[in-house]
Amino acid sequence: MAKKEKWVVRDKNKRNVFWPSVEMRERAWVGTDRFYKDAAKNPMDFWACLARDGLDWFKEWKKVYESKPPYFKWFLGGKLNASYNCLDRHLKDKGNKVAIIWESEPLEERERKITYRGLYREVCKFSNVLKKLGVKKGDRVGIYLPMIPEVMVSMLACARIGAVHSIVFSAFSGINFRKRVEDCGAKVLVTCDGYWRRGKQINLKKQADVAAKAKTVKKVVVVKRFTGKDELKLPMRKGRDYWYHELMAKASEDSKPVPVESNTPLFLLYTSGTTGKPKGVIHDTAGYLTQAYWTTLWDFDLHEDDVFWCTADVGWITGHTYNCYGPLSVGATMVIYEGSPDMPNWGRLWKIADKFDVSVFYTAPTAIRMFKKMGCELTKGYDLSTLRILGTVGEPIDLETWLWYFGCIGNGRCPVIDTWWQTETGGTLVNALPGIGPFIATVAGRPFPGTRAEILDEKGKPVKKGRTGYLVFKPPFPPGLLRGVWKNPKKYRDTYWREYGPKVYYTSDGAKWFDKHNIRVTGRVDDVMKVAGHRLSSAEIEDAITSHPEVIVSAVVPKPDEIRGQVPVAFVVLRPGVKPSPEVEASIVKQVRKEIGPTAKPHQVFFVKGLPKTRSGKIMRRFLKSMLVNEKLGDASTLQNPEIVGYLKKVVGYKRK
Ligand code: WTA
Repeated sequence: MAKKEKWVVRDKNKRNVFWPSVEMRERAWVGTDRFYKDAAKNPMDFWACLARDGLDWFKEWKKVYESKPPYFKWFLGGKLNASYNCLDRHLKDKGNKVAIIWESEPLEERERKITYRGLYREVCKFSNVLKKLGVKKGDRVGIYLPMIPEVMVSMLACARIGAVHSIVFSAFSGINFRKRVEDCGAKVLVTCDGYWRRGKQINLKKQADVAAKAKTVKKVVVVKRFTGKDELKLPMRKGRDYWYHELMAKASEDSKPVPVESNTPLFLLYTSGTTGKPKGVIHDTAGYLTQAYWTTLWDFDLHEDDVFWCTADVGWITGHTYNCYGPLSVGATMVIYEGSPDMPNWGRLWKIADKFDVSVFYTAPTAIRMFKKMGCELTKGYDLSTLRILGTVGEPIDLETWLWYFGCIGNGRCPVIDTWWQTETGGTLVNALPGIGPFIATVAGRPFPGTRAEILDEKGKPVKKGRTGYLVFKPPFPPGLLRGVWKNPKKYRDTYWREYGPKVYYTSDGAKWFDKHNIRVTGRVDDVMKVAGHRLSSAEIEDAITSHPEVIVSAVVPKPDEIRGQVPVAFVVLRPGVKPSPEVEASIVKQVRKEIGPTAKPHQVFFVKGLPKTRSGKIMRRFLKSMLVNEKLGDASTLQNPEIVGYLKKVVGYKRK
């Protein structure tokens, strides 16, 4: 690939707006507006065409789309297998191509490179292991693994036999994992002894044991990450716990992929909503995979010689789609990294990008803000000239951060593709495409071809340009969109299909039109926050705090943070007689770490005598949120206890802007 190529040009008239260069346009899979126009004319035909071209089918579908609001289906009656699409079909031409390059946190450990054939063999074997352990089509498997290749092996092995995986972020606590395992009724868990994080050996098995106590769990498979002097001495329960390598040594490589109907669940992924209980978002097989395949190919314009690196953890949707199903279904080479970006210093990611000639790099604004703080000097000495495309996801990106990413990491040569999407959408939905542009700082871009985004006001009318409204999608819905909430149809209906009725998907994000085509997303309008890119809900953290024996009630709201985007701040009412103290605060923080994990721990705790409540007793988090940023507070007369406002202002140190 030509190095130092300029992939973008500046707009002559508008600041901070860029366009693809001629080279980019010519190279790109999508280089003309025609794609958008044709797709808009007949989205069903468009997606049918993409599903046919992108995926291999065992049986063609009978009907492209069916809608029974708020439910819908794509490619009805078709049969396929996700693992076949990620592996088997590449063997002929790409068997020796590297699928996964794994870098460990310790510098002295060698990287692992796994070819498509190598990955295929592992997946086949592990699918047989799962079958032997009693996993059948439709059964749930709980996966609790860090960024090691065995996590992809486990996912694809489930897909191969038609089992449904449910991954839980490895930095979440064992208690949290257990709740999710119980909700989905997983039979088998896959975990590991531990992993490296900031130079420390984290014992994951100890956490997994908490979840293994769930009634439905029969077997636990444990991958051995640490050997030799690093080996962890773990208690393995006889008849329940098995070493991965021992089972794999005996497993056959002969495993036929099970054809499943298009709308069969491929996985569940628990995500935070407005209540304390995370919901299990259900993704189907064919629609999800179609969107994963085409968004990976087009958003990042992947070609045969590209090396793709998405830094997301597999515990989040970004890791599912862009560290597994997307890149593997298109047959790309991807990088995964086990550790922390600051090990041994903040130049580590650039060292890795240089080492493996990364050409497409996809990360979150929170990481970019941290890199920016640490300085561009940290890239010096590393050759980043193979980079062609930069991506970002997870939260709105501010102008300075965008420009720094573009200038320092991309050296002013690479487009920044700002992708808006959600756990629920399965794949990206609003972003610029590399060969089309424009790349506008702070603006996500255009709805993906074949999807229909709108921005509505409270009454459901489209907003005028420049006005903020609510981002929604209209039918036919994007094929990757969630198909339900595990065991909770009411939640599915209430969360996504109530605001504007069952024919409009409500995202819970605020947005405005930047121009005729391009959308700027302003952020969540519900009680969901993004802390360093991680999705957490107020209610979930409040539940953890309230489970502390000395707490009566609490309210958690986000506060803007320079690096992490948002951080949770807690208002806590203690039991009568309990005095606020640093010890009580520390034990509340500890409780949150235990119940959820370190990502959710409150940044600040205010001990207060009461909270603002509506007449019906609902806590008005909005008031607290505005107070923290010295914004106008709104009408307090609807409160049950308006007198609390003056008191809280003093506690917080509120000064109206
Ligand atoms: C936010 C992450 C602005 C948004 C893939 C959404 C963004 C939530 C962007 C979903 C972006 C994601 N610009 N906001 N490019 N991408 N968001 O489920 O508020 O972890 O609703 O999925 O992240 O977070 P989730």
